Amino acid sequence: MKSKEKITNVVVETMLSHRSFRKYLDQPISKDDLDTIIQSAQAAPSWVNGQHVTIISIKDPEKRKKMAELAGNQKYIIEAPVFLVFCADFHRIQVACEMEGIEFKAAVNPDLLLVGAVDVGISLSSAITAAESLGLGTVPIGGIRRSPLEFIELLKLPEYVIPVSGLCIGYPSETPDITPRLPKAAILHEDQYKENIQEEIKEFNEIHSDATKGRTSGGSTWTKRMANFYKDPYYVNDSYKDVGKMLKQQGFRKGY
Ligand SMILES: Cc1cc2nc3c(=O)[nH]c(=O)nc-3n(C[C@H](O)[C@H](O)[C@H](O)COP(=O)(O)O)c2cc1C
Repeated sequence: MKSKEKITNVVVETMLSHRSFRKYLDQPISKDDLDTIIQSAQAAPSWVNGQHVTIISIKDPEKRKKMAELAGNQKYIIEAPVFLVFCADFHRIQVACEMEGIEFKAAVNPDLLLVGAVDVGISLSSAITAAESLGLGTVPIGGIRRSPLEFIELLKLPEYVIPVSGLCIGYPSETPDITPRLPKAAILHEDQYKENIQEEIKEFNEIHSDATKGRTSGGSTWTKRMANFYKDPYYVNDSYKDVGKMLKQQGFRKGY
């Protein structure tokens, strides 16, 4: 990707060099660097300036161990010097409503889930770019949604707060290749959605299988990987089946 694009400045260069890192040096991250990452996450835009994101830094090694297991045995959650959990947070909004003597009624609106997930996504992305610009590597951990009820318990999340993604941060001990992306024509359409999208996907299949050959579960086409992943409603082994339960439990229960 990097070689095809014209790099215009250091921010863009950082973004186009992105890859996820899953192996880290045993080297701590300075408090100043972590503060910069959190500040960058907080500087991201948010819907109506509602700032619907809470970040929880997990320091307790026992909790990390448990979380690594619950997220599908992802051991880099234990090994990374920093592990953050990004939550979509409407508890603060409820408190704001209480402080104003007004009832919080919008939890019935499914739009809240889009608002929360988008705010978390933008904030997560800003944290990633900030970390990468400081020479650090990261990997988001959506695996926390495999066991959302257990995460809520471990994190003591109040009503209207849901865990969306973890983020491991550390100094990389190895640099994986950049994972190729779909051709631009597949993701950038003009004026309306393209009718036939198979050609670009076919083109990408070859690029994907070549680029992932040496990797664990690599070497297959992108369509094969995606079709196998999405063939069951809750993915492989019903692994993400409690998300609906989590939403109800956390108060997002009416209207859908
Ligand atoms: C919201 C989100 C959740 C993710 N969850 C995981 C995860 O649980 N474990 C993991 O190893 N990678 C996870 N990833 C990383 C993706 O697998 C990775 O971004 C993708 O394969 C593209 O590779 P790249 O980041 O190296 O370009 C996640 C990425 C995102 C955006």
